[in-house]
Formats: sequence, structure tokens, C-alpha cells
Amino acid sequence: MTKPRPMTIPKFVAAKGGDRKLTMLTAYEYSWAEMFDESGVDSILVGDSLGMVVQGKGSTIPVTLDQIIYHAEIVCRAVKRALVIVDLPFMTYEVSPEQAVTNAGRILKETGAAAVKIEGSANQARTIQALAEADIPVMAHVGMRPQSVNKLGGHGRIQRDAQKIIADGQAAEEAGAFSVLVELVPQQLAAELTAALTVPTIGIGAGPDCDGQVLVSYDMLGITSSDFSPKFLKRYADLRSTTMSAARAYIEEVQMGTFPDDEHSHS
Ligand code: KIV
Repeated sequence: MTKPRPMTIPKFVAAKGGDRKLTMLTAYEYSWAEMFDESGVDSILVGDSLGMVVQGKGSTIPVTLDQIIYHAEIVCRAVKRALVIVDLPFMTYEVSPEQAVTNAGRILKETGAAAVKIEGSANQARTIQALAEADIPVMAHVGMRPQSVNKLGGHGRIQRDAQKIIADGQAAEEAGAFSVLVELVPQQLAAELTAALTVPTIGIGAGPDCDGQVLVSYDMLGITSSDFSPKFLKRYADLRSTTMSAARAYIEEVQMGTFPDDEHSHS
């Protein structure tokens, strides 16, 4: 069997308009990243959703640069094929383009990732340009932006301002973004944005017409609580139930004295 060739930025961009959609999943640590990579996903995002699904915080706001670097370095050690992209956390790029280049440079040097993502587009055009000019590939993020949770007054609002979203995507592409993540946008609008751009769009809650899709792995694997059930989320597994059943069986067997048995003991 021939070894799969690594995904690169040029290949990722060239996939737009091709015959298959791009796939992306989030990962934060070694074993999951290794499994996703071996499964053949095109790209792994070390997302700042880390703050919510791994750290148990109420939003992505508290995630720090050092924390995302710690997790991204672990993920990169596991990944042989997929393109690894790392979120720049809140307030690690907004102050100035220089701040963004310095912090994104740290991410690429200290983790081995290929690219960064920022939650911005037209409002961050100078920063996207500075990153691209420093040879730091950057993915933009339009529509619902979780780092704006305080301004928006909550997560999960569908973004319907068509003029703004198309202008945001175009500004990001013009500034040098290699791809645009589109979050919580009506299907038809995401299709129009995808048609208006020459770089690939990656959707979450944005319908089937984007050039690719991303899901937060803990959500799609059914690890996070089923209380979180936005319309766009498909759970491909129920690892929460599987894990809890296994933990309960283990507790019961240890308490009853049936584990370890002879088969699992050294003579
Ligand atoms: O941090 C994250 O996981 C994201 C999602 C929108 C995929 O940015």
C-alpha cells in the first residue's frame, strides 16, 4: 500500500472546486489526533474550543497562548498527514499586526503546525496581510465568532447579514487568507460566499455547499453532554454512554471482587 502524502497549504487550496469536499476535525491531544489522522481527515484544527470541551470553561475567552501551544505541540507530534491549523486565542492578535505575527510565529516554531486561524476578516485585514507577508498561512473566520461572545451576548446566534458576510470573506481573501471558516450562516448565504471566493470555505453550521466541513470532535463523538444540541451538530458516536458504561462496569467488578480475575493476574 502506498503511504498517503501529507496535506499541504497548496493542496488544501487546490481542493476548491475539486470532486470531493475537504474534511476537518478539532483535536487537542495525542491519541485523538493520531486516530483522526489515521482515519484520513484532511486537516486538524487545534481550536480554542479547548477552553470549553477540555478545560470546562464557559467560553473560549480564557484560553492562553501558552495553553494552545502546549496542546498544539502534542497534536503535531501525533499527526503524520493532516494539515494542522492552530487558533490564535482571544487577545493574542487583536492589539496590532506585529502582535499577531509574533504570536503566530511562536505557534509555528514551537509546535510544528502549518497555519493559524484568527476570528476575523475585514476587521482584521491588516493583520491577515501581515501574517501572509510573514509566510504564516492564515485561515479567517466569518459569521458567528465565539471570541465575540461578550459583545454578542451569547453563543449560537445565526448570522444573517449577507452583505457583511460576503464583504468579510472577500476582504479576508484579498488580504491573503488561504481559507475562510464560516460559522452559523444560512445555507444559501454560505453557498453564495463559497461561489464568490477563490479560496476554500470550511463550514460549521453553514450547510452543505461550503468547500469543506469542520466539527468539534468532542461534540461529533458524543463526548460532550447531549444538553448541547444545535441543529447543525450530528453525533457520529455516543462515547459518553460507552465511557460511562465501561466505568460503571469496572467500578462494579472491583467492588464485587470479580476484577482482577485469574486471567488478569500474574501467577
Ligand atoms: O475553536 C474551534 O473549535 C472552532 C470551531 C468553529 C471549529 O473554531
